[in-house]
Amino acid sequence: MVTPTAASGPETEVVNAYQRDGFYLAHGLLPESVLQELTEAVPRLLAQEGPRRILERDGVTVRSVYGPHQTNETIARFCHRSELVERAAALVGERVYIHQSKVNVKAAFVGDQWQWHQDYIYWLQDDGIRRPDLVNVAVFLDEVTEFNGPLTFVPGSHRAGVLAATPTAGMPIGYEDAPNWVSTLTAEEKYQIEPSLIADLVQSNGLVSPKGPAGSVLFFHPNILHSSAQNISPFGRSTLIVVYNATSNPATNTTNPRPEFLAARDANPVPIGG
Ligand code: SIN
Ligand code: MN
Repeated sequence: MVTPTAASGPETEVVNAYQRDGFYLAHGLLPESVLQELTEAVPRLLAQEGPRRILERDGVTVRSVYGPHQTNETIARFCHRSELVERAAALVGERVYIHQSKVNVKAAFVGDQWQWHQDYIYWLQDDGIRRPDLVNVAVFLDEVTEFNGPLTFVPGSHRAGVLAATPTAGMPIGYEDAPNWVSTLTAEEKYQIEPSLIADLVQSNGLVSPKGPAGSVLFFHPNILHSSAQNISPFGRSTLIVVYNATSNPATNTTNPRPEFLAARDANPVPIGG
């Protein structure tokens, strides 16, 4: 864990909670008009076919759209907002760039699961990012409740570091003809963690699903153990996730890199504004 830069004031509380629990949920951080702009931008993103758009196993429902900050002006501007960039920098301890962004849709009735996993193992193994000095910033575009497949965390589990995980062989069912990197994005995780290890961590640390109205912002650590269940409710659960990384911690996989929309090469600091 890195040393925070903020020494006092509300930032210290945020950094302390994040370091202790591995996540921090902020309410009321964003103006209502910003949330509305984001929500209006999403349907256009979901309608664009191409490799950035990942479908669910049913082959029709959109699961995720990757790199929207690279294709959409509203999202790009949003990712530069000081409320996000300054907090991300305080949490990782230095200036940040955007490693990845995505909209996870979790459609009503059919949105699929994310199995138990840690994010950093992907960024380490697949992108060659050497330290876990990244932070996920998840903006709820819909209200998140216990019914629509909320993210579920094992609080404090980030402090255990990278957990033992077995890479799956081959492509997940339903994605047999897709490029290799798609195996890092589906309902079946590429890096599988033993259920007994998950059970032990849950036994000692418990579980929590941060919930809140649209516009809430959830900061979470790349090593926190997390999952989310299928959404069988009639309520959608779209989330915009921006992954900021410390500028001194760039992706180093140059032999077999994932596409730029999954692993940015440009590690220049994000300009603050928006
Ligand atoms: C989710 O959107 O429920 C999962 C996001 C993640 O695993 O990072
Ligand atoms: Mn994850």
